[in-house]
Parts: sequence; structure tokens; C-alpha cells
Amino acid sequence: MIVAANFKMNLNLKDYKHFLKNFNTNASKDTEIILCPPFVYLNEFKKLKKDFYLGAQDVSEVAVGRHTGQVSASMLKDFGVEFVIVGHSERRGFELDEQIANKVKQAVDNGIIPIVCVGENVKNQDDAQIINQVNTALSKIENSSNIIIAYEPVWAIGSGEIPSAAYINKKTNLIKKLAKKLGFKIKVLYGGSVDAKYLSQLKKCSLDGYLVGGLSLDVNKFLNFVRLV
Ligand code: PGA
Repeated sequence: MIVAANFKMNLNLKDYKHFLKNFNTNASKDTEIILCPPFVYLNEFKKLKKDFYLGAQDVSEVAVGRHTGQVSASMLKDFGVEFVIVGHSERRGFELDEQIANKVKQAVDNGIIPIVCVGENVKNQDDAQIINQVNTALSKIENSSNIIIAYEPVWAIGSGEIPSAAYINKKTNLIKKLAKKLGFKIKVLYGGSVDAKYLSQLKKCSLDGYLVGGLSLDVNKFLNFVRLV
């Protein structure tokens, strides 16, 4: 299983030092932990790198040039970043599907595994949005590429509630089917209010792991979740 932590724009240097100092995982060997702090704290994570992979929260859609404030995939790779979250719903508000496809390509071309977030805005919405997000995100890369897709229903993120196992399975099966049709073999995560209290429900889903937000802000809660996964 995979557990990826998206810290978003939370915490500060002191908090991250505390997180890392207490990050002692007894996770089973087959749990891969990916930690995605804000760019400026990546170095703290790199310095103390223990049983986790280094992830970033975003990447530029272009390779190089006059793009003030952006960080390229080759820079992330240089630094030691192995995974990058792309197309999170909190960024999709000001990013087009096409730009997200470019970011996926930049990551793949530079040997970074993208964690592509897809999901419908509203509960019980039809599947057109997800279909479009998946097809576009995969449109610029070879189908042999290593890709993770995180199904994150926007309405569940930060809400404290998760969809039923049947609902998650329906959507993740759709995502797998779409990717398979294009020849991809992907891993699928679920994200949106993931918490240990929902694990018995989540374990009924056919998933490769989880993308967690709020849960990552407390190292003990996060580690407890990792141990139970
Ligand atoms: P949440 O966030 O776990 O706090 O709902 C998940 C995400 O946005 O990736």
C-alpha cells in the first residue's frame, strides 16, 4: 500500500522538525510513504530522510525559462524529489486540464512519478468530469509511464466525511477502465477526509493506497494510520 501525505500550505519549520523527529515508522515493509511538504521545507525532509519518499505539491508545466516563481521538474529531480502531486482540486481552479497534462509530461520526462488528482465537484455528479480529467491527464505521455491517480471527490476533501465503499469502487473502477483502455497500468489512491476511523470502510475498496491531507498535520495520528493500513 501507498500512503501519500499532502501537507498543503500548513505548518512551519518548527512543526516540520517536530514531525521529522517523531517520524519513526514501524510500518510493514510493503507500505510506501510519500511525504509532500511545501517546496521550502523539502530540504528538511531530505536531510532527515528515513523511511519515506520525497514528494512535491506541484511542478511547472514548462521545462525552463521566464516563469517567475515556478519550479521545473528537472529542478525537482535534481533535488531528489521522486513524486509530485499534479492537478489537485485546490489548483484546478486556476489550471486547465491541458496544463495538467503538460505537468504530468514534465514529471514523467524527468523521471518523477506524478500523483494525478481527479474527482467530481459534487456528490452523484455524472462521470463526464472524471472521464475528461483522466483522458486529458494521460494524453501526452507513453502508456508505459509510471503513473498514480488519486481519486479525490472534491466534495469530500476536508469535509470530515467519505463516500461509501460502493461509491468509491464505482469511481475507481471507472478510472482504472479508462486508463486500461489507453494501455496504462496505473495505481489508484483514494483521498478526501481519510482518517483511521474510516479504515474498515476503506478496506472494502479496491485501492493501492491513500492520499491524506489533514491527517498528516499530526505525526502521531499519521503514523497510527500508517500502521493500521
Ligand atoms: P483531506 O485532504 O484529507 O484534508 O480531506 C486531502 C487532499 O486534499 O489531498
